[in-house]
Amino acid sequence: MIGIFDSGVGGMTVARAMEQLLPEKRLIYFGDLARTPYGSKSPQTICRYSRQNMEFLLSHGAKMVIIACNSAASVASDLIEKEFPVPVFEVITPAIMKALEVTSGNRIGVIGTRATIKSNIYETKIQQIRQEAKVFSQPCPLLVPLVEEGWLNKRETKMIVRRYLHPLKHKGVDTLVLGCTHYPLLKHLIGPRIGKRVQVIDSSFAVANEVKNFVRDNPDIERSLSRDGENKYYVSDVTDAARMTAQRIFGRKIDLVMAQ
Ligand code: DGL
Repeated sequence: MIGIFDSGVGGMTVARAMEQLLPEKRLIYFGDLARTPYGSKSPQTICRYSRQNMEFLLSHGAKMVIIACNSAASVASDLIEKEFPVPVFEVITPAIMKALEVTSGNRIGVIGTRATIKSNIYETKIQQIRQEAKVFSQPCPLLVPLVEEGWLNKRETKMIVRRYLHPLKHKGVDTLVLGCTHYPLLKHLIGPRIGKRVQVIDSSFAVANEVKNFVRDNPDIERSLSRDGENKYYVSDVTDAARMTAQRIFGRKIDLVMAQ
């Protein structure tokens, strides 16, 4: 199975992309709803939670794992890659590669949670690859709760999105990375507000594509991934809001199973 974890249901945007690009491979998802959000927690706490999430997925048969949470990926991916003996993917690197591929003027905006933006991971990684690239980052702490509440088309949400994007627009970014797994659900508001000429990068498809290529190029791993059974969506707490968000992401009802 391919394991995926997130602090909650936002990482299901990655699971949905995986279902579309690798429909024959079984997924095991873990959403840490009991302890969400990660984006406002310290790096130490996020690392501890991430380790536990990895242990859960591996003990349930995951042969490779996607960290489908920018907050976790930004502070815990090095540690996870070091400590766990399976291929590990995360949402940040593929989004960066995509942004560098499409940027027309090397002016890249990044939006994310406080933890992600504070880690400076996007800026550091982008400049390691292309020194002349300018990165403009904006924490958007109100967006996750708005998505969780299902306020995807409310006037208030539109106002807040506009307010957050204003400084990036002012800086003339030509590319905008959605550095949080919840933000693809607000793409319809973000696109028009950042401007038609700005390329908006959704990391869910970027990482799913990377995993697809990896599986294709590694037949041993390909064979170890099961095709039988159903995709499993585990959570550490079940709430009505989570059920609704999951249904909105997949366009169908998702059976959220309480992890014991
Ligand atoms: N999944 C988190 C991320 O992508 C957002 C939710 C949270 O803060 O836990 O950063």
